[in-house]
Amino acid sequence: MSIHIGAKPGDIAETVFIAGDPLRAKYMANKYLSDVSCYNEVRGMYGYTGNYQGKRISVQGTGMGIPSTAIYVNELIREYQVKTLVRIGSCGSLQPHIKLYDLVVGMSASTDSSINKLQFNGMDFAACADFGLLHKAYTFAEQQKFPVKVGHILSTDVFYDEDPEAWKLWSRYGVLAVEMESNCLYTLAAKYGIQALSLLTVSDSLVTKEAISSEEREKSFDQMMQTALSLLG
Ligand code: HPA
Repeated sequence: MSIHIGAKPGDIAETVFIAGDPLRAKYMANKYLSDVSCYNEVRGMYGYTGNYQGKRISVQGTGMGIPSTAIYVNELIREYQVKTLVRIGSCGSLQPHIKLYDLVVGMSASTDSSINKLQFNGMDFAACADFGLLHKAYTFAEQQKFPVKVGHILSTDVFYDEDPEAWKLWSRYGVLAVEMESNCLYTLAAKYGIQALSLLTVSDSLVTKEAISSEEREKSFDQMMQTALSLLG
């Protein structure tokens, strides 16, 4: 038992998919896994373990933002010996060519969060994905003809920014999309020597101001989940 995850040792698989929304974790577990058991309900942050084509896998909600995600990622790695973490999330496009429903694979994750500077005594750590997972995910998504894009992402601490144009700085530097979690996932994976990757579906665009509805959101996540499942084994 850790502080925020009420699972016993061995309840959680070595590979865990993490989603900001615990109901997405539930949706994924019920849709894709067999022999599913729920190992966590603490704070409504559901976690499930089951099988996919004979492989054991867990799916865990993390909540939104770096602080909440960092709590679950720390506990999964330190208390439950998790070795591979794949985020399945949503993001907002920062580029005209990144469209709604596109699958964005986060190669690196910049941040405006002070967590990076706190950890590295005022210096910056370049948080990046595991290349093996990235290569595998990209190859699978290309084969499936999913609209996949690989590149830089931004993990912001601020959803409702004081300056509504603040995203344009990151856009000018070629950052594809914004979300709120991957930077800490990649940094913690580096710290503990495990593998991590973020797969993101574009749910809105800061460029065009379009957004997909919450029902459409659920359906459009399937291409991302299939890509995540292709990483098993
Ligand atoms: N901003 C930050 N995080 C997000 C967004 C966004 O527009 N869309 C999905 N996650």
